[in-house]
Amino acid sequence: MSEPLPSLLLIGCGQMGGALLDAWMEKGLAPSVIVDRHRNSLPAPHRVVRSLAEIPADFTPAAIILAVKPQKAMPVIEELAARRPDLASVSVFVSVMAGLTTASMADAVRKNVPAASPAMVRAMPNTPSAIGRGMTGLYAAPDVNDAQKSLCNTLLSSVGATVWVDEEDQINAVTAISGSGPAYVFLFAELLEEAGVKLGLPQDVARLLARKTTSGAGELLDHSSEDAAVLRHNVTSPGGTTAAALAVLRAPENWPSDILEAVTAAFKRARELAS
Ligand SMILES: NC(=O)c1ccc[n+]([C@@H]2O[C@H](COP(=O)([O-])OP(=O)(O)OC[C@H]3O[C@@H](n4cnc5c(N)ncnc54)[C@H](OP(=O)(O)O)[C@@H]3O)[C@@H](O)[C@H]2O)c1
Repeated sequence: MSEPLPSLLLIGCGQMGGALLDAWMEKGLAPSVIVDRHRNSLPAPHRVVRSLAEIPADFTPAAIILAVKPQKAMPVIEELAARRPDLASVSVFVSVMAGLTTASMADAVRKNVPAASPAMVRAMPNTPSAIGRGMTGLYAAPDVNDAQKSLCNTLLSSVGATVWVDEEDQINAVTAISGSGPAYVFLFAELLEEAGVKLGLPQDVARLLARKTTSGAGELLDHSSEDAAVLRHNVTSPGGTTAAALAVLRAPENWPSDILEAVTAAFKRARELAS
């Protein structure tokens, strides 16, 4: 049996916080506290509380995971620092929230703990983390030490793959590619299903074909050492059906520009949220 993951204070347990928590619980987690009004109780030794005021005074987590919506984050960080100034110097803060910079979050801590140099990490996971197939990009601010980085890597690698970036702005690109990326794939599955129906297939058949094709191709890509381009090439006979479809998709004015435009829009939005 492997070591349990370190104790956590998870603030916000919705889509993303919940997905991470489910995976962490499955791996085994040291006694942790979850703050969220909607989450049902958890098996002991973990505790769910409804507000920051109810965090036990003697609970000192190794990491504080911030997973509320970005627009709600600043008051949460300020209140936590006011209630538990001791945590600012002992726990590493891990924000999974899009957009918010490490500097702005550290400033929120310092409003109530002026001398603090809190250790701030930004992590951008995605929802396949719920099934251990996540992809997380991470950035550590200068005040984060190697042990804290390693702890964050252990946490996030327990729900999938991890990669560290050197520049904080690159987290916005990670957000645009892998954070938002599952939604692009789901949209593709929806559109494939709709196209199947337009071609005369019953809805349930079109749905099955679209779902299994997107998930199967993703799985094949994950298991292969070949580039995506090679796998694509392998299933494209010259003059065949796949080639006919790809000629449309790969026309410069179609997917190559659409995908770049879409991802750039996500990147810009992530930057806007940060400003
Ligand atoms: N979903 C994704 O794919 C994804 C991927 C990467 C990162 N993220 C990031 O994850 C964060 C959360 O997104 P989400 O989709 O998980 O949102 P969500 O489903 O709305 O979850 C947020 C949860 O936090 C709770 N909450 C709000 N204020 C709180 C407070 N003061 N104390 C304790 N809990 C509080 C919310 O409760 P109420 O509803 O009552 O406010 C809700 O249950 C966002 O910042 C997002 O950028 C999401």
